[in-house]
Amino acid sequence: RTQLRGDQVIVVSNREPYIHQRGPNGISVSRPASGLVTAVEPVMRACSGTWIAHGSGSADQEVVDANDRVAVPPDTQEYVLRRIWLSDDEERGYYQGFANEGLWPLCHVAHVRPVFRESDWAQYRAVNQRFADAVVAEARGDDPVVLVQDYHFALLPAMVREKLPKATIITFWHIPWPNPESFGICPWRRELLQGMLGSTILGFHTRFHCKNFTETVDRYLEARIEHEHSTISYQGEPTLVQSYPISIAWPTDEERAGWPSPADARAAVFERLQLGPDTVMAVGVDRFDYTKGILERLHAVERLLEKYPQWQGRFVLVQVAAPTRSALEEYREFQDRIHRVTERINLRFGGAGYKPVLLLAEHHDHSALMELYRAAHMCVVTSLHDGMNLVCKEFIAARDDDQGVLILSRFAGAARELPEALVINPYHVEETTDALHRAATMPPQEQRERMASLRMTVREFNVYRWAGRMLTDAGQWRLRERITRRVQ
Ligand code: G6P
Repeated sequence: RTQLRGDQVIVVSNREPYIHQRGPNGISVSRPASGLVTAVEPVMRACSGTWIAHGSGSADQEVVDANDRVAVPPDTQEYVLRRIWLSDDEERGYYQGFANEGLWPLCHVAHVRPVFRESDWAQYRAVNQRFADAVVAEARGDDPVVLVQDYHFALLPAMVREKLPKATIITFWHIPWPNPESFGICPWRRELLQGMLGSTILGFHTRFHCKNFTETVDRYLEARIEHEHSTISYQGEPTLVQSYPISIAWPTDEERAGWPSPADARAAVFERLQLGPDTVMAVGVDRFDYTKGILERLHAVERLLEKYPQWQGRFVLVQVAAPTRSALEEYREFQDRIHRVTERINLRFGGAGYKPVLLLAEHHDHSALMELYRAAHMCVVTSLHDGMNLVCKEFIAARDDDQGVLILSRFAGAARELPEALVINPYHVEETTDALHRAATMPPQEQRERMASLRMTVREFNVYRWAGRMLTDAGQWRLRERITRRVQ
């Protein structure tokens, strides 16, 4: 922040941080289920500036000024949200089509085949251009700091660079980057790479993703790669490619003071969900997405009840599944399947008021999630592939009693930072099953040791550190630019 004092910061993302909806009681504001928003929002509050995003709420148009701007958060108004309106065709082609049927499965190894349509690609390009034009229109000088978020905007960095050659463009890719062979099936692989290399800094969650990206460039473009400096120079312009593991804002004392005690949280949740007093409760919190390993998790719960019958009647998985992208067939089919498997397991092992799986397929706000995290005996993250996964970090932040066990997929970026979790391969049902049993029987002292160590990591490597490192690198870059310009 100090490095950037006086510089203008503009964020670009598809998903907006605040959604205004019209309901029977007037306009209400909600926060979307998105790891990206969870991470970027506190940073934006800290440095003000302008956030450009797609306006998706039914009342979004009603609250903006003539320039499509509104100050947010609604109560404290710390920065400006500039909304972009997309037509149905644009949304279908750019967001549902190219981003979510093409790039999302392309970058996640979750065995769902990517779909590439010429018409989606045309919309993706056009919408990237519209957002790039908005960045240029919002820029006060010729050298703003532009923070580009995620796979919706691979082309935008080069488009902004063309109009604002002096801008500092920091692009962060929130999802994994695959190996060159996998990426190579995309018909527009070169254009995507060229677009991204318009960035000053290109960030991924892990070094592994950086390595995959660099190898992909090496395979498909004529570029100069300098491994020792982590830079790629394309057409004479250098891009720094670095890993910046994303995180959450560590809760303040004030926030924590508002939390129910773990005992009260447990009592409230058990009563609401009608769980017996000796229930061992696992919590899963995900968008209802096929990359999250929800099916594998259900299979592990079923196997647990078979293999360790002492848990029948006592073990419950409370699975929050926030509705997401349900305009897409792939998602609807997946969601139906999870409902069917849940029903089957509940029929097989449930009875007399007991259901081993409670599927809560609706959006939960932050305080409802905090209560669940504090009530649970364990949190289960079984992503088949995940850039980072912030649910596990939120669970850790919620457990100031140093209790609770985290079961974490080795295919989530977070597993590299959090080895004190029970790290599992979600494709191996037996291994996950045994981890559930181990978590359910783990002595409080072992839980305390593991949780205390996890908490140290997340407290220290919080989201301000994530943003701070990128902004410091960018600040240094800008300083160098200014000095060298003065010298010349
Ligand atoms: C992931 C992506 C984000 C996205 C979020 C929610 O975390 O990396 O860019 O915002 O999923 O998905 P949605 O399509 O609802 O924005």
